[in-house]
Amino acid sequence: MDPRGIIERLRSLTRLEHDAVRAYTRAIDNARTRDVKNALQRFRTDHERHVVDLTDAIIQLGGNPPELSREARGVFLEGMTAGQSRMGERLALRACGTGEKFVNYKYEQVAGEDFPPDIRALIDRNFADEQRHLAFVQERLQAAPPRRIRRAIGLGALGVAAGVVLWRLLPDNHGQRPGGETSITTAP
Ligand SMILES: [Fe+2]
Ligand SMILES: [Fe+2]
Repeated sequence: MDPRGIIERLRSLTRLEHDAVRAYTRAIDNARTRDVKNALQRFRTDHERHVVDLTDAIIQLGGNPPELSREARGVFLEGMTAGQSRMGERLALRACGTGEKFVNYKYEQVAGEDFPPDIRALIDRNFADEQRHLAFVQERLQAAPPRRIRRAIGLGALGVAAGVVLWRLLPDNHGQRPGGETSITTAP
């Protein structure tokens, strides 16, 4: 691939990485679980390193690295509504998951292209980090259902149990099961 093509691909990845750093900063603010917060902080550090390494590679190839634009809103930040400072850990993780899927897709796209060995090594290294980020976010999202669903399931189970107890206690239903089946009682 000619240097201009390489620079363009590296610039495109750098813009995504800038977006990821900003989105992770917001996600970290909204993380409540200690291990999630720690993981998101490590992932942000990875993205910051990706920005530095990609920027260095672009400069070495004679290109201009993209500037961090405050206005630019990429895939990561799309999941986070502007001005919504508190979004909850789960929504923050979902936004990170959407962004990470897109980043992984972009790295996968370029992974098959023809690069010099040092650029290839850089892309492979970053891609491995992105796969690890996505795996963690997906695992955490699948691990526990949202609190409101857990509460609804709990209340539903409680309601069924209370209904069965009441059914048993009603005088007309002695000996009869909720399915309408009557138990056989032997006369004394
Ligand atoms: Fe990254
Ligand atoms: Fe990532």
